[in-house]
Amino acid sequence: MQLIADHIAHAYGPLPVLDDISFAVGPGEVVAIVGPSGCGKSTLLRILGGLEKPQAGRALVAGAPPSASLNPLTFVFQDFALLPWRTVEGNVRLVLEGHGLTQAAMDETVRDVLSRTRLTDFARTYPKQLSGGMRQRVGIARALAVRPALLLMDEPLSALDAQTRELLMDDLVELVSGDSAEALGMVYVTHNLDEAVRLADRILVLSRRPGRVRETVTITADRRARRSDDPGLVRRARELWELIRADAAEADRELADVETIDG
Ligand SMILES: Nc1ncnc2c1ncn2[C@@H]1O[C@H](COP(=O)(O)OP(=O)(O)OP(=O)(O)O)[C@@H](O)[C@H]1O
Ligand SMILES: [Mg+2]
Repeated sequence: MQLIADHIAHAYGPLPVLDDISFAVGPGEVVAIVGPSGCGKSTLLRILGGLEKPQAGRALVAGAPPSASLNPLTFVFQDFALLPWRTVEGNVRLVLEGHGLTQAAMDETVRDVLSRTRLTDFARTYPKQLSGGMRQRVGIARALAVRPALLLMDEPLSALDAQTRELLMDDLVELVSGDSAEALGMVYVTHNLDEAVRLADRILVLSRRPGRVRETVTITADRRARRSDDPGLVRRARELWELIRADAAEADRELADVETIDG
């Protein structure tokens, strides 16, 4: 299944937020979205997931979702959004309830996703007993349980410390490393350019608001072989930062001009 952004534009009242965004992402692919704060990244993700209707253009899917998918486009958020009164297993089970699955099918899915996220030993644990990294692994396990075609991730690692981020990055790399037609894909919104170059096949650099695709950076190196201290990747991250910094500086200058005129 492919997710296609087709000339998406959006505004909130008089505030234009996104302008003419087009790209596609399919099985086994990761598209990262970076750009200055407030340029419309989260809005774009919500539009892609069908939570918000764009003012112009559209988000559409092409091709069949994975077999038995309960939710082809599934969100993973920064704040984990776990229910504190449910165990790890209970939090995963929650998204499977009400779909008419047999108990055995549910058990099997829970077992499978907890094993894929290395949480098997913590099935009966409550979220407050877990570290931040483990909580986000529960968030990811829950997302995987519904057999998504694509994960829509909004700063999924931002609440975590650097070491934990690094470990979860390895997990995410593994998750998207299948290459079947049913392999998982991701749209990955991040402020962290190191994460973008570690994970993505393509990085969309958005301009400041209204977000346009200022540049698409392609990274071809084998995802599994990428290391965060790889000089090539470090250089790409620095180039990305230069692109974003130029835009942020321009926005600041404009704001200063307006203040001068007002004053
Ligand atoms: N529901 C809403 N109603 C009105 N304005 C909104 C709404 N949601 C977002 N905005 C505004 O739209 C712009 C884009 O917001 P969005 O959250 O998409 O940016 P972002 O790129 O995700 O920012 P950040 O990097 O800080 O997470 C911002 O100026 C924000 O204030
Ligand atoms: Mg955001």
